[in-house]
Amino acid sequence: MARKKITVVGAGHVGAHTALWLATKELGDVVLLDIIEGVPQGKSLDLMEAAPIEKFDSYVRGTNDYADTANSDVVIITAGIPRKPGMSRSDLINTNVGILKTVVEGIVKYSPNAYLLIVTNPLDVMVYAAWKYSGLPSHKIMGLSGALDGSRMRSFIAMELGVSMSDVHAMVIGGHADEMVPLKRYATVSGIPISQLIPDDRINSIMERTKKAGGEIVALLKTGSAYCAPSAAVAEMAEAILKDKKRVMPCAAFCSGQYGVKDMFIGVPVVVGANGAEKILEIELDNDERAAFNNSVNAVKSLIDELKIGQ
Ligand code: APR
Repeated sequence: MARKKITVVGAGHVGAHTALWLATKELGDVVLLDIIEGVPQGKSLDLMEAAPIEKFDSYVRGTNDYADTANSDVVIITAGIPRKPGMSRSDLINTNVGILKTVVEGIVKYSPNAYLLIVTNPLDVMVYAAWKYSGLPSHKIMGLSGALDGSRMRSFIAMELGVSMSDVHAMVIGGHADEMVPLKRYATVSGIPISQLIPDDRINSIMERTKKAGGEIVALLKTGSAYCAPSAAVAEMAEAILKDKKRVMPCAAFCSGQYGVKDMFIGVPVVVGANGAEKILEIELDNDERAAFNNSVNAVKSLIDELKIGQ
């Protein structure tokens, strides 16, 4: 069986770590592309030199030329500027939408059948822009939101209780911004609702921490944003596609009426497999959850309207 080909655009913090996870999981051969000469080549070579130790045979190659990305099965886009302390994800919008346009056009020219996974922020707007600029069918494009935010919430719950990270599940929907919606009713530890294990005030502070988790790391790092969890989460999404796992993961997917949302991408629970976003699962939301979700949708919508993409 021929190996799969995965391109990662942007060889910065998130991109290089994504290449590392993809290679160690042997999901395919990896092409790492960046606009800066030498950086993707250097980081790829460094990764290849780790292969004998970690015993992976994925081939990682760095490039500045889109021709080398030809016929990729999955393309992960991390190119763009990250946040600095005090910035919100939406402050990145004008710079990153310009970068995204160049990148998407370069990618679809050589890989017209690829699945696109977007990491660049502000996430939900960038996914929408990638859809418009690429001309790809909407099920082929998804954005990294809930797979990351849910993992953050899971880690906070596991640390609170001192239990295994593997036994905690949590669902975060809505936009990948401060208005995201952690769903406490759907968070469980081995099937036990967290409301039976953690007092309400502590659950509320875990939910608040989840919403601001990206900013917490930006404030600590001072020179950039998080990259370990984001890269691990997007590699997990790539794995779901490449291995047709039918994973149920919250991610920014195209809604055509689900949850009352039409013609835009927003974080919802999705079955992810060989056909990308295969099915959106519509779970029941109570009044507060629905109001918070609608608020998050409106925040993304107004950013998209401001940008006037595709109008
Ligand atoms: N084409 C290719 N690569 C580009 C382009 C472009 N047009 N413009 C910028 N890049 C590259 C930069 O050269 C840099 O190597 O994107 C990389 C970004 O890396 P970092 O600055 O380390 O940023 P990172 O932390 O990886 O975050 C990237 O992901 O999580 C989001 O908000 C974050 O939008 C940001 C993105």
